[in-house]
Amino acid sequence: MTDIQNGNAGAPEKKKTVLSAVQPSGNLTLGNYFGSLSRFGEFTEMFDCYYCVADLHSITVRQVPAELRRHTYEVYALYIACGLDPKENVLFVQSHVHEHAELGWILDCYTMFGELSRMTQFKDKSAKHADNVNAGLFTYPALMAADILLYQADYVPVGADQKQHVEIARDIATRFNGAYTPTFTVPEAYIPKEGAKIMSLQEPTKKMSKSDKNENASIYILDSRDDIIRKFKRAVTDSDTCVRVGEGKDGINNLITIYSCCTGKSAEEVECEFDGRGYGEFKLAVGEVCADKLSPVKDKFDELMADKASLGALMKEGAEHASYRASRTLSKVKRKIGFVEI
Ligand code: TYM
Repeated sequence: MTDIQNGNAGAPEKKKTVLSAVQPSGNLTLGNYFGSLSRFGEFTEMFDCYYCVADLHSITVRQVPAELRRHTYEVYALYIACGLDPKENVLFVQSHVHEHAELGWILDCYTMFGELSRMTQFKDKSAKHADNVNAGLFTYPALMAADILLYQADYVPVGADQKQHVEIARDIATRFNGAYTPTFTVPEAYIPKEGAKIMSLQEPTKKMSKSDKNENASIYILDSRDDIIRKFKRAVTDSDTCVRVGEGKDGINNLITIYSCCTGKSAEEVECEFDGRGYGEFKLAVGEVCADKLSPVKDKFDELMADKASLGALMKEGAEHASYRASRTLSKVKRKIGFVEI
């Protein structure tokens, strides 16, 4: 019996697919690094990996054109600087692959007003940008579902704040599969145990965000060593002096998480290491391990940004690869819906 006659018997198991994306909507933070970028490399060998610079998403909030262009190159270069080999991973810019916008529209028609109204990110962003509550901000999750479903992604590595968006993508996929025949892989969010939600250094009950106006609240991946150390020294903590995880100690809990992420040590090991030493000494140590962690990324980033033409060529290649896979899914979707093919 040949492999074709008996299905897949004897064929090597098909690799599963990973997809994730980052918006080029500001300078990337330590939250973006630990919640997403720093983990992407671990999937390269075992999975087919797609990583996208989500520029279509970023215009749901007004962007200065020159800054959007710069941030798009920067996020792309940071993917590589954080360890992704563009030959082994498909790295692309969302607006270069028209299938995203096209499937995004189609999925709008399979997404309910009520479910979009419940999205926390929509509520937060519409409160923050009350003068620009546009339709794109509202339908954002359907476009994000398109990003994921076009590649038939099995896993979506993201920080905790994106869990709700991956869940709605699952619901949309299940709804579409049920209305026709199985078309989309139903994806799963893959959230790290440590670093899924890095908090602001100034308001540690809020997540660290690239759109925070207070620069001291965030560590940016590209910050200088001096800036990193200075920001940690100023980090808001509490009136206790013991470096210990505890309720109501959001600032210290966050610093312990960051120290753990930078060193690979558990929270208990960190507590032991700083037993009997004060907050001042601890903050300095967090700054130092963090600066050490980010320094090679920054060096590689500078090297890549010095040659924009090569980055452009890589973007083109990535878009071609992504488009090949995306167009296959989109054709299938159009056929199922009943669109006429020519
Ligand atoms: P974005 O650009 O806000 O963030 C990129 C990634 O960083 C994670 N993240 C954090 N993780 C830990 N602590 C933080 N403080 C922190 N802040 C951000 C986010 O969870 C995310 O993983 N909608 C997405 C972009 C997107 C996407 C997709 C993601 C568009 N299409 C398809 C996955 C799949 C966003 O706004 O991420």
